Amino acid sequence: MIIFRIQIYILMKTNIISFCLFLVSLLISAQKDLPNDYLSSEFHKSRRDALRQQLPKNSVAIFFANPVRNRANDVDYVYHQDPNFYYLTGYREPHAVLVIFSEDQINDQGNSYNEIIYVQKRNKRAEQWTGYRLGVEGTKDKLGFEMVFNGEAFLNSGIDFSKFDKVLFQAFEDDYRNTRQKADLFDLITAFKTQISYNEILAIENKNDQLENKEANVIQNKAISTDTRILYRLLAGLRQTKTPEELQLLIKAVRISAIGQREVMKAIHSNMSEAEVQGIHEYVYKKYGSEYEGYPSIVGAGNNGCVLHYIENAKMTIDNDLVLMDLGAEYHGYTADVTRTIPASGKFSEAQKIIYDIVYKAQEAGIAASVIGNTLRSPDDAAREIINKELIALGIAKNEKDARQYFPHGTSHHIGLDVHDPSLRGLLEANMVITVEPGIYIPEGSDCDPKWHGIAVRIEDDILITDEGPVNLSYEAPRTSEAIEALMKEKSALNSFKLPKLD
Ligand code: GLY
Ligand code: MN
Ligand code: MN
Repeated sequence: MIIFRIQIYILMKTNIISFCLFLVSLLISAQKDLPNDYLSSEFHKSRRDALRQQLPKNSVAIFFANPVRNRANDVDYVYHQDPNFYYLTGYREPHAVLVIFSEDQINDQGNSYNEIIYVQKRNKRAEQWTGYRLGVEGTKDKLGFEMVFNGEAFLNSGIDFSKFDKVLFQAFEDDYRNTRQKADLFDLITAFKTQISYNEILAIENKNDQLENKEANVIQNKAISTDTRILYRLLAGLRQTKTPEELQLLIKAVRISAIGQREVMKAIHSNMSEAEVQGIHEYVYKKYGSEYEGYPSIVGAGNNGCVLHYIENAKMTIDNDLVLMDLGAEYHGYTADVTRTIPASGKFSEAQKIIYDIVYKAQEAGIAASVIGNTLRSPDDAAREIINKELIALGIAKNEKDARQYFPHGTSHHIGLDVHDPSLRGLLEANMVITVEPGIYIPEGSDCDPKWHGIAVRIEDDILITDEGPVNLSYEAPRTSEAIEALMKEKSALNSFKLPKLD
């Protein structure tokens, strides 16, 4: 008996040891088995060079990493880098500063440089809890920077900001915390404010508001000259047109999102909850390696679809309602923005189909207007003209002004690293990617025939502007009412996915 117990013990022991070895090998292979299709360090460098060429003479631009945001107590939200910072660096960790000089600088050793990045210091204990940090060496190796320091070096950087004609940065959001970590974002921003005598600048700005222009200029000349608006415009100008490398990632994000819509069309049934529908989309995203959603997923059944950014997704059963699904996968930073509206029953009712087909017709007109030389207003004008006319013809709206309440948002915006990507709102050019997303929303209680109440339809596609005309990147998700009904008849693998009932 004892021998038997010893045998069991040895067996358990060896199993535990081999299990531990197995876990370690999994961890090692997981480290190796990472995605390798991120933007290249050459891409980020080319963006810094492009920005540098546009900086005012004798200026310096400072960018801070996004803050870590707290969810509750000792739990933070998943970290997401500031899109401008990511665009220029590829660095995905918090507590970092990027400094770009318009002209070459010479250091004490006589070497010239035109940019510096200060990164989060490596820390064995911290990395055991929250994961690997690139540190100075990793930032040099992986991101191709030459001048890299730990954040602590920025606290006394020795950069003489007073020698520049302009110090450029973006307004501080003031939503960062002072943690116990040395050189956290709070310390970095505080140090920067001290180095540029920020309080003095603010005091002067306040005083200038009360002084005549001439007198104000004299006082301004004594302080470091700063600007918090130029960088937004310069970055918007760069980011609004996508490079081939960016397009590869953005197109992947859009295709993943469209395929998610297809799978849901096959799998959806009236007993599902809004959250369950959301879960199917997001599972498909993960299956394709998308890290996040580009914005909180919107799944609104019936009247809930009338709330433009409805993110509660709390309705327990979608019944036979129309379901408005506006979701976008984020792939390596780039986010899609795709909406489909489908009948949970698999068939549009007569009233639902009338409204749906109007939105489709408006979207077709909007897509046709998404051509080089037009503006973001052009798809909106084209789509709105159709929706206004049809709503008035159906007696839902009394006139164009009244129709606005049923289509209260714009039709187009750029997408990219942000779902609402910055742009200069000028003429459309090749390699811009915009949405075309008309909608009609008729909430319960609207001043029209009740047969229309609770109908909400938005159709949103992501359109690449090209020399040959608009290209619909989200083409894989059916758009016409007929094509949607046909796809919804197909079987889904999820039909046989059964879980035990919980009391
Ligand atoms: N998903 C947000 C929007 O369509 O703009
Ligand atoms: Mn959109
Ligand atoms: Mn959307």
